[in-house]
Amino acid sequence: MHAITIEQPGGPEALVWADVPDPVPGEGEVLVEVAASAVNRADVLQRQGFYDPPPGASRLPGLECSGRIAALGAGVSGWSVGDEVCALLAGGGYAQRVAVPAGQLLPVPAGVDLVTAAALPEVVTTVWSNVFMVAGLRPGETLLVHGGASGIGTMAIQLGKAVGATVAVTAGGPEKLARCKELGADVLVDYREQDFVAAVREATGGAGADVILDIMGAKYLGRNVDALAVNGRLAVIGLQGGVKGELNLGALLAKRAAITATSLRARPLEEKAAIVAAVREHVWPLVASGRVRPVVHAAFPMRDAAEAHRALESGAHVGKLLLTV
Ligand SMILES: NC(=O)c1ccc[n+]([C@@H]2O[C@H](COP(=O)([O-])OP(=O)(O)OC[C@H]3O[C@@H](n4cnc5c(N)ncnc54)[C@H](OP(=O)(O)O)[C@@H]3O)[C@@H](O)[C@H]2O)c1
Repeated sequence: MHAITIEQPGGPEALVWADVPDPVPGEGEVLVEVAASAVNRADVLQRQGFYDPPPGASRLPGLECSGRIAALGAGVSGWSVGDEVCALLAGGGYAQRVAVPAGQLLPVPAGVDLVTAAALPEVVTTVWSNVFMVAGLRPGETLLVHGGASGIGTMAIQLGKAVGATVAVTAGGPEKLARCKELGADVLVDYREQDFVAAVREATGGAGADVILDIMGAKYLGRNVDALAVNGRLAVIGLQGGVKGELNLGALLAKRAAITATSLRARPLEEKAAIVAAVREHVWPLVASGRVRPVVHAAFPMRDAAEAHRALESGAHVGKLLLTV
């Protein structure tokens, strides 16, 4: 089969469409004939040589895909050859075929076409596991989403609104904020012009955000704690602003607040399966009803993955970039 390979870490040109051996589904896995994959920030880090796949995972990039089941490994039940699925992957999505643990499969939701379904697995599992399973966002609470126009952000806004939260977002510039508003965001903060701490306090009558979904890490650590409400929960999922921060623990203590940080890729199979099952139960009905929808900025032929990476790194996109086979 053909797949995007990374012979030498580097710029987008390091992504080469090449002939590679077909994957073989192991016990508990299925083989998916890929229709599309999608680009994630982590793929850029992997391409640059800063984010190795976890042990046992495919060396090929690609953390999600959609497609049709082509074969079942031993011990798989509940799925059939020909089923249209999308899947969370630990790697290998930038390829014509990929072997997937059955617990990481989701049916293509009603109302979403097979290719577009590739935009869903990473964002739904990341947002659901952090904002809901870990931070426990409740109706009536305020959620602050940093990077509201990112792939992750566009899903976090919609899920926050779907459960009845007030959603505040940060983004760089009025066009991106306008897109966030279309998706339902209530409070729009242009981080290039405004202080998000002051803006969130003002919007909440001084209380602050109950949950913050953060992609900036160190750069925003202190200000995120300042922006939290009493009993607030800060969920860190990205480190775009650095890994080492300094924090006044007194401020955290006074608010009886919590900070969590998680990554999805290296989690054990059972944890990923539990997250995928929760998404199927809680998020899939919202997608099927049209209340929550995938946001796709553009699609590229998979062999042109380098172009898609350039587009992601330019930062002009809103939502997801797809790679089609
Ligand atoms: N831990 C996990 O399991 C997990 C899983 C998936 C993704 N992630 C992380 O989630 C983040 C988003 O991923 P993605 O794939 O959706 O990436 P993406 O679409 O490329 O989004 C990156 C976003 O960062 C925003 N940004 C840059 N500087 C900012 C700032 N100072 N304040 C607020 N936003 C800023 C950019 O928006 P502007 O143009 O508006 O600046 C852009 O929308 C990444 O950091 C990624 O590593 C983590």
